[in-house]
Amino acid sequence: MPTALVTGITGQDGSWLADLLVERGYEVHGIVRRASVDNRHRIAHLEGRVHLHWGDLTDADSLVRAVRAAKPDEVYNLAAQSHVAVSFELPVHTADVVALGAARLLEAVRTLCPEARFYQASTSEMFGAAEGPISEDTPFHPRNPYGAAKVYAFHLCRMYREAYGMHVSNGILFNHESERRGEAFVTRKITRAVGRIVAGTQSRLALGNLDARRDWGHAADYVDAMWRMLQRPEGGDYVVATGVSHAVRDFCERAFAAAGLDWREHVDIDPRFQRPMDIPDLVGDASLARETLGWAPTIDFDTLVGRMVAHDIELARKQA
Ligand code: NAP
Ligand code: GDD
Repeated sequence: MPTALVTGITGQDGSWLADLLVERGYEVHGIVRRASVDNRHRIAHLEGRVHLHWGDLTDADSLVRAVRAAKPDEVYNLAAQSHVAVSFELPVHTADVVALGAARLLEAVRTLCPEARFYQASTSEMFGAAEGPISEDTPFHPRNPYGAAKVYAFHLCRMYREAYGMHVSNGILFNHESERRGEAFVTRKITRAVGRIVAGTQSRLALGNLDARRDWGHAADYVDAMWRMLQRPEGGDYVVATGVSHAVRDFCERAFAAAGLDWREHVDIDPRFQRPMDIPDLVGDASLARETLGWAPTIDFDTLVGRMVAHDIELARKQA
C-alpha cells in the first residue's frame, strides 16, 4: 500500500485529493493546523480513513515530525494562504507560508525521505498578465504577493530536482472550482448567493471586477492531474487547464440563469472587492499534460456552474 502525505488536506483540493488517494488504495496522511472553528468539514466523511498530524508550514519542526511519522512515498504540498486579494494585505505571512513553507517541507523530505516523490501546487498566477494561451514556456511576471511567493517555491522545486536528483513536480494549475470551493473565491461567492436568493435569505450580491476572465475547471479533474505527475518516471512541470476562459460576468449570468434569475437584478459593484492590480485574462495550454500524462478535463464550464448552483440551492434551503 503506497503512502501519501498531503499538506492542505482540509482545503478544497486537499479534500478531493484525499478522496482520490483513499479510493486508489493509499494510506493517506494529512497535516492540519489548529483553528478555533471546525476546519475539517471537507474531510469529515473520511474520518478514520486518513491519519492527521498537527502541523503548520511556518513551523519546520512540525513538518519534520509529520514526515517522520508518515514515511511517505508521495508528498503533495497543497497548503497555502491561497487568496490573492488577501496576499496584498498580508504579503509577509503569504511569503512565509507559500514560499518559505515550501522550502521547509522540501528540506524535511530531502533529509528524511529523499526518494519520496514531491508535488508542488504552483499556479497560473505566476504568469501575471501574459498573453494566452499560456504554456510551460511562458515567462513568469507575477502581479501580486501570492504569485511572487509561488514563483519562489516553483524555482526551489526545480532546483531540488536538478541539484539533488529528487522526483519533484510543479503542477501549474489554472483556476479550478467545485462545490467545496472556499466561499471567498468569486465562483462560490456567486453560487452561494444564488442559493440564498432562491431560499429567500439574501437579496443582493456585491462583486468587484466583472471583466476579469479565468480558465475555470473542476477540482476533481485537477487532483487527478496531480496524481498522474507523480506516477511519471521523472519529475516535471505541467500546465493544467481547460483552454477556455470566461468572464466573471459570464459566470454570474449562467449561475443566476441556472436558478431562473436575472443577475442584473441582484448584483452590485463594490470597490472593496477590487484589487490594487488584477489579471485581465488567464487561459492555459495544457498540451503537455494531455500528451505526457494522458490527462484531459471531464467537466466543462456549464456542468461546473450547474453542479455548484444545484449544490448551493440545496444547502441554502437546508440552512434556511
Ligand atoms: P484552499 O481551499 O484555500 O486550501 C488551503 C489549505 O492550506 C487549507 O487546508 C488550509 O488550512 C491550509 N493552510 C493554509 N495556511 C497554512 C499553514 N500556515 N500551514 C498549514 N496549512 C495551511 O486552497 P485550494 O483551492 O485547495 O488550493 C490548493 C493549493 O493549490 C494551494 O496551494 C493553492 O495556492 C494552489 N492553487 C489553487 C488553485 C485553485 O484554483 N484552487 C489554482 C492553482 C493553485 P485551513 O483549512 O486550516 O485553512
Ligand atoms: N474573490 C473575489 N471576490 N474575486 C472577485 C470578486 C469578488 O467579489 N469580484 C470579482 N472578482 C474577480 C477577481 O478580481 C479575479 O479577477 C477573479 O474574480 C477571480 O478571483 P478569485 O476567485 O478570488 O480567484 P483568483 O483567480 O484570484 O485566484 C484563484 O486562482 C488562482 C489560479 O489562477 C485562487 O484559487 C489562487 O489560489 C489560484 O492560484
